[in-house]
Amino acid sequence: MTLDAHRDDLAATAAALAAPGTGLLAADESTGTIGKRFAAIGVENTESNRRAYRSLLATTPGLAASISGVILYEETLFQDSLTPAGEPGPPIVELFAERGIVPGIKVDQGVEALAGGLGGETWCTGLKGLAERAGRAYERGARFAKWRAVLRISGEGCPSELAVRENAWGLARYARAVQEAGLVPIVEPEILMDGDHDIATTASVQEWVLRTVYEALAMNGVFLEGSLLKPSMTTAGADCPDRPSLEEVGSFTVRTLSRAVPAAVPAVLFLSGGLSEEDASLCLNAINEAAALGFAPWHLGFSFGRALQHSCLKHWAGHDVNAGQDALLARVRANGAASRGAYVAGGEPSDDASLFVANYSY
Ligand code: 13P
Repeated sequence: MTLDAHRDDLAATAAALAAPGTGLLAADESTGTIGKRFAAIGVENTESNRRAYRSLLATTPGLAASISGVILYEETLFQDSLTPAGEPGPPIVELFAERGIVPGIKVDQGVEALAGGLGGETWCTGLKGLAERAGRAYERGARFAKWRAVLRISGEGCPSELAVRENAWGLARYARAVQEAGLVPIVEPEILMDGDHDIATTASVQEWVLRTVYEALAMNGVFLEGSLLKPSMTTAGADCPDRPSLEEVGSFTVRTLSRAVPAAVPAVLFLSGGLSEEDASLCLNAINEAAALGFAPWHLGFSFGRALQHSCLKHWAGHDVNAGQDALLARVRANGAASRGAYVAGGEPSDDASLFVANYSY
C-alpha cells in the first residue's frame, strides 16, 4: 500500500495519541533490559514472568484516563495474557485495545558501533525486513511504531556530523517505511544525559539534531501530521555541576522545539532518560508551564519507560499485582497532570531513586 492510502488513518491515530492530558506507557524493554529490571527486584527473567508483568500493566484499572497508547516489545505484541491466578487470558494487545489504549511496537533492532564515528558513537539497525515486520504488527493490532536513535554529547566532538546525519537518515527511512504499512512513526532521536555539559550546550546540539531530523523526514516524504516526536527534555548532562532550575528546563526545551519542530507535528512525547519519577513529572510540568507563555503548537506529553514503571516494579515484586497497579496509577496521574501544567510537587507518591544508568540501552 502507498502512504496516500493511509493518510487519514495516520492523522487520526496521531491525534488520538496526542489527546490532552495523556501520554504513552513505554513498556517495550527488550528481553535483556527487562531482565535487568527483574534482577533488581529478585524476579527471574522467564517468559511467564514477563507475561505476568505485562498483563499487570494491561489490566490496571483506569489506566486509559491518562494513557493514550502503549509501546510493546515484539514478544508482548504476540503474547497471551496471564491472570493473577496464573490462568491463560486473551492476547495482551487486546486488553490494552479494549480499554481504548492504542498499541504500538518497537521496530528498531538496537544500535551498533558506527564506523568512522567518534568515541563509541552508534547507528540504529532494523531497516532490513522492516516493511514485513510493520505489516505483521499492523495485522496484530499495532497502530504506531517506535525507533530509538541514540546520540551523545562529549568534549571529544560528539555528536559528530556523521552520527547526526546517519541517525537522522535512519529515523526518516524508518518513518516513511512504517507509514506505508499504516503505522504512525514515533521519531526518537535521544540525546543521552551522560556527560558534564551544561544546558545551553544540550540546547544547541538538540536544535541541530532536530533540524537535521526534520530535513531528512522531508526528503523521505514523511507525512508529518501522521507522525510524533519523542525527544529528550533539554537539560544539563548528568555530571554537570551547574544544575538548571525547572524554569530553565522548561524554557530551554520550548525554545529548542519552537526553533526546530514543524507545527504540523501533533505531539511531542518526551522520554524520561534516567530522571527520577518525580523529576520527570516536574520537568514535564515546567515544560508545559513554559509552553503556556510562548509558542508551542504541539501537545507536550510523555512517553516514559523508567519514570512510569520503577515504583510499579518495586511494589509488584513478582507477586503483588494490586500494589504494582496502584504505584503505576500514581505516576500515570502525576504525568497526566504534568501534561497540562497542573502537577504539584509531591502530589503523588514516587520512589525518588535516580534512574540514570550511564550509556543506557533500551
Ligand atoms: P525512558 O523513559 O526510560 O527513558 O524510556 C523511554 C523509551 O522508550 C526509550 O526508548
